[in-house]
Amino acid sequence: MSGQRVAVVTGADRGIGKCIAEQLHRRGDIVVAACLFDGAGLADGLHIVPDIDVTDGDAVDRLFKYINDRAMTIGWLVNNAGVLGLDELGSIDYGDMRRQFEINTIGPLRVTETLLPLLADDAKVSITTSRVGSLGDNTSGGMYAYRLSKAAANMVGLNLHHDLSKRGIAVLMNHPGMVATDLTKDFPGDFDYIQPEQAAEGIIRNMDALTLETSGRFQHSNGEYLPW
Ligand SMILES: NC(=O)c1ccc[n+]([C@@H]2O[C@H](COP(=O)([O-])OP(=O)(O)OC[C@H]3O[C@@H](n4cnc5c(N)ncnc54)[C@H](OP(=O)(O)O)[C@@H]3O)[C@@H](O)[C@H]2O)c1
Repeated sequence: MSGQRVAVVTGADRGIGKCIAEQLHRRGDIVVAACLFDGAGLADGLHIVPDIDVTDGDAVDRLFKYINDRAMTIGWLVNNAGVLGLDELGSIDYGDMRRQFEINTIGPLRVTETLLPLLADDAKVSITTSRVGSLGDNTSGGMYAYRLSKAAANMVGLNLHHDLSKRGIAVLMNHPGMVATDLTKDFPGDFDYIQPEQAAEGIIRNMDALTLETSGRFQHSNGEYLPW
C-alpha cells in the first residue's frame, strides 16, 4: 500500500489525545485528528475531522472516507477516545455502563475494524485502556463500569494483536498514568497526577519502540509493562 503515511488519533479535541496529536505533528508526522466536537483548539496544520463519535458507525465511515479520499495510508492508529463514570455498588447506572462500553470497548474495535483496509502492512495500533482495567492490579474495587469497559478493551487489543500481527501490524494497550485532565477532575482521592503532555510523550515513546516481538502487551506510559 502506498500514499501519504499518517497517524490517526481519536478523541483528539482535548486531554491526552490532543497532546498526542500535536506532539506527533510537531515532530513532522502527518496527523488526522478525529474529534468528537470540532477540534477548534488544535494546532494549525493537522487534518481535523470533526463529529467523529466512535460509537456511531456512520461517523466512523466518514473518517474512513476522509482518509481514503486523500489516498492516505495509516501508519499509526491511536484509539484514545474514552470516558470515565464514577459508580459504586448500590448506585450503578446500567445505562451509563452501556455507554462506557460503547465508547471505551466497542469504540476502539469499531474504529480499528473500519480503518483496517487503510492500515499499512507494518502499521501500529494503540488502544488507551487503563490500569484500572487490570485484574491483577485491582486492590480497591469500585468503578464497575469503567473497570469492566477497560478490562474488556484490553481483551479487544489482545485479540487484535493475535489477528493483526500475522499481517505485520503490532498492537499495544497503553495506560497513560494518573493524568490531570477533565476526565479525572472529579476523581476522589489524592494522587500525584502527571500532565497530559508527559503522558502523551510516554505513549509516543512506547509506540515508537513497539515491534511485532513486543506486540500484544499492556504498558504504562513510563515504560513499565503491566499485568492483565
Ligand atoms: N486521565 C487519566 O488519568 C487516564 C488514566 C487512564 C486512562 N485514561 C484514558 O485516556 C484516554 C484519554 O483520556 P483523557 O484523560 O485525555 O480524557 P479527556 O480529557 O476527557 O479527553 C477524552 C477525549 O475523548 C473524547 N470522547 C469522549 N467520548 C467520545 C466519543 N463517543 N467518541 C469520540 N471521542 C470521544 C472527548 O471528546 P470531547 O472533548 O468532545 O468531549 C475528549 O476529546 C481515555 O481513553 C481515558 O479512559 C485516562
